[in-house]
Amino acid sequence: MSGTPLDVNGVRILKGFLSQGLQREVVSDLRDVAAIAPFRRYETPGGKKMSVRMSAAGKVGWVTDRAGYRYDALQPDGEAWPEMPATVLDVWSAASGVERMPDSCLINFYGKGAKMGLHQDRDEADLDWPVVSISLGDDALFRIGQVTRGGPTRSIWLHSGDVAVLSGAARLAYHGIDRIRFGSSSLLPDGGRINVTMRVAE
Ligand code: SIN
Ligand code: FE2
Repeated sequence: MSGTPLDVNGVRILKGFLSQGLQREVVSDLRDVAAIAPFRRYETPGGKKMSVRMSAAGKVGWVTDRAGYRYDALQPDGEAWPEMPATVLDVWSAASGVERMPDSCLINFYGKGAKMGLHQDRDEADLDWPVVSISLGDDALFRIGQVTRGGPTRSIWLHSGDVAVLSGAARLAYHGIDRIRFGSSSLLPDGGRINVTMRVAE
C-alpha cells in the first residue's frame, strides 16, 4: 500500500493507497459485515433522516437517533457488532502512523444523491488518536474546513482506493461530502460509494 500524500488543510490524502485487488477484497469483507450489521438510515438528534446509510464493525459502533450521537456496544436491534475485517485493520496499520489499533469502524454507504454535511468527528473518548478513512466506489467531493466552525474550506475529489488521515492538528478538522458522482466507478456493481472510517472510540 502506498500513495502520493497530499495535504489539504492538514488532512493527509493518500491517493491510490489501495490497489484494485485490495479494494475488491475489502468490499467482499464488508459484504460479510453487512450480513450481520445491515446498513441502516439513522435519524439525527434533531430528527432528520440521514441520506447516508450506515453499518459498523468492532467492539462498539457509531449510531445516532433522537437520543444523540454515540458509540454503542450493541446494534439498534440488540445484536453485537461484527468484528473489524483484517483487510481494513491492515490499512490502518499502513496509514495511521500509530501502534494502537482502532476498536471501531463506521461504514457509510452513499447512494444516488446522498451527502454528508460538514462536521467534526468528536464522539471518541480520546481525540488524540487519528481517524483513517477509505474511499471505495464512486467519486466523492470531499470538503475540508478548519478545526473551528466557519473559515475557508478546500475541496478535493476522492476516488476509489484513496485514504484520508485526520491526525495531529487536523484531527478535529470540519469535513463533509458535498456530492458523489453516481456511477463513476465500476467497483460496486450497482453503483454508489462506500466509506470506511476507523477510529479509536473508547
Ligand atoms: C465521515 O465523515 O464519516 C465520512 C467521510 C467520507 O464519506 O469520506
Ligand atoms: Fe466524519
